Amino acid sequence: MTVFSRSLLAAGASFAFAVPLAAQTEIKIGYALAEDSHYGVAAKTFEEVVLEQTGEDFSFTHFPSSGLGGERDVIEGLQLGTVEVTIVSSGTLANFVPETGVFDIPFLFRDLGHARSVLDGPIGQDILEKFDAVGLHALAWGEQGFRHITNNRNAINTPADVQGLKLRTMENPVHLAAFNAMGAAPTPMAWPEVISSMQQGVIDGQENPLSVIVSVKLDEVQKYLTLSGHVYSPAMLLVSKPFWEGLNDEQKAAFEAAAADAVGAMRGYVDGIEASGVETLKERGMEVNALSADEKAAFQASIQSAYEGYYKTYGEDLVKSIVAAE
Ligand code: PAF
Repeated sequence: MTVFSRSLLAAGASFAFAVPLAAQTEIKIGYALAEDSHYGVAAKTFEEVVLEQTGEDFSFTHFPSSGLGGERDVIEGLQLGTVEVTIVSSGTLANFVPETGVFDIPFLFRDLGHARSVLDGPIGQDILEKFDAVGLHALAWGEQGFRHITNNRNAINTPADVQGLKLRTMENPVHLAAFNAMGAAPTPMAWPEVISSMQQGVIDGQENPLSVIVSVKLDEVQKYLTLSGHVYSPAMLLVSKPFWEGLNDEQKAAFEAAAADAVGAMRGYVDGIEASGVETLKERGMEVNALSADEKAAFQASIQSAYEGYYKTYGEDLVKSIVAAE
């Protein structure tokens, strides 16, 4: 061996030594709310469990507060494989898997326990499986809580109080049908546009659960909060299908375990905010009223025409079996 080849070998050996054994895969996780929201808490838990169970395989970069765009943009990013993971509301999910819309029907669930058991049971799990056909892999249902109306025009006690109210809704056909039937003037809009539209008076109000109203500080731009609880708001932990298909079995099992813990953390956060959120918002200056059972019944009666459409789309038997579930 010449001096030259010996030094080449030595250089090669030291080069090989300097290269890391396996490159880490970056996971971009996008969500619409801040890091201290129910989504942020779930995303952090998800990261912790994945890292704990997979060692050095992955690194996480968080994009909170719609840092990757509206929820529809992020889901499309997952389909393309440019984003790996997201936590989203059911806002635009029905545009990808129409069956998810059944859970957006107003006055479907009695309480959080009822919703959680249906989503975790066969009806909810069957719907999760449908996402694989559209370039996505659904890991678990999460949640935001029950949605309530906020606005700047007037306090709301009866359906007459929402007549003509310019109310931002999610880009969700089930919600849109309900608010149209109620006599409001619903405006579907992606979340990143909502605050500026309120500031400019383009919309009078919006509807979201306490988890969102508190964490986004909607009290800074909205005066009235009506605890209408008109609809449960599911969320979902979604993974890009092209990314999912590249994982090995151990990594998939770690993602599944991480999703279960993330949902536990999200539901824990929602339980806490359901207990404390109204007081917080009153202290911040919002005028709050809660609809009585009779007042809620009047709102439900005002959207009877929308139920005819829901029964046609989702099947009356399915809707009634969800309502009757324990
Ligand atoms: O109202 C919505 O669009 C959603 O509830 C939000 C705030 C983006 C959270 O997913």
